Amino acid sequence: QANERESLYLVSEFAKDFFHNSLRKTEEGKAIGLSYFKERGFTDETIKTFELGFSPDRWDAFTGHAIKQGYKLEFLEKTGLTIVKEEKQFDRFKGRVMFPILSLSGRTLGFGGRILTSDKRAAKYLNSPESDIYHKSKVLYGIYHAKQSIAKEDNCYLVEGYTDVIQFHQTGIKNVVSSSGTALTADQIRLINRLTKNITLLFDGDAAGLRASLRGVDLILEQGMNVKICTFPEGEDPDSFAKANSLEDLSVYLEENARDFVNFKASLLASEAKSDPVKKADTIRDMVVSISKIPDVIKREVYIQECSRIMDISEEVLFNTLAQLLQKDK
Ligand code: CTP
Ligand code: MN
Ligand code: MN
Ligand code: MN
Ligand code: MN
Repeated sequence: QANERESLYLVSEFAKDFFHNSLRKTEEGKAIGLSYFKERGFTDETIKTFELGFSPDRWDAFTGHAIKQGYKLEFLEKTGLTIVKEEKQFDRFKGRVMFPILSLSGRTLGFGGRILTSDKRAAKYLNSPESDIYHKSKVLYGIYHAKQSIAKEDNCYLVEGYTDVIQFHQTGIKNVVSSSGTALTADQIRLINRLTKNITLLFDGDAAGLRASLRGVDLILEQGMNVKICTFPEGEDPDSFAKANSLEDLSVYLEENARDFVNFKASLLASEAKSDPVKKADTIRDMVVSISKIPDVIKREVYIQECSRIMDISEEVLFNTLAQLLQKDK
């Protein structure tokens, strides 16, 4: 199947160039797509770096052009760029601004496309479907542009969305990737694990963001990595926050607000129900579950001590709970 995959790569690469060109060089693209990105504060340099694009608002503008250039409908359909329905062909991303999703080595695997209207009936983002080259659980948006910086800084910021990655990059923080709307997976963490052992989760200041970040913690600990969590003020996400702040202020904010998972979970309890004994017990149990995922025995012990101190509970009880959990996992 190597040949077929190669064909999917080629058509994806062609699509990326087509969308990028139509954003920067066509009247429609400039008027609708480029002005949208400019309004979001993206510079020309950023738009070029991430090869952002625009898919013309006609039902087969891209597909028609691709076929004229000799690309086979079979591969256009298999990458999901074209939808075939009752022998008619439609552009999946018609009228959307485009975010190409690149592999670690820079090959185009798929796309995210954002709608420009505020039509609540249509999905805000459309993504490429699974294909032989695009497995959404295995890719991280931004990894190609972040990999050097992740290794150099020995830390990776993980955000929720495309624009969070781009705005951070533009502000000057380049060690950032996104799981792009899917729940974080072990494969995605493995990809980061090749570059650094340290992840900082940066999630939107809303309930969904909080849930998403908490789900990721245990998966990261299981791989023997270190995880910190930093949230943003209510209603803000990394994109809006970075847009409104200088590199200096953003760096200080991240430095001051990133906490390890034990402290983070404790602060959640403190903000919700400090004096509720049942909730406090649940929180402690939840912390020990997370600690039990850590492969390194010394680190586990250090976190037990930390948990004991913060939650004001004996280490002995925590060790017993930990022992029970480890027994059960066997
Ligand atoms: N997402 C998606 N489909 C949707 C909504 C979101 O795939 N219908 C994914 C996108 O990758 C998006 C991420 O989830 O970037 C985070 O969602 P959200 O916070 O709602 O979007 P933002 O990235 O903040 O997008 P924007 O600022 O453009 O509204
Ligand atoms: Mn590039
Ligand atoms: Mn959100
Ligand atoms: Mn967001
Ligand atoms: Mn946003």
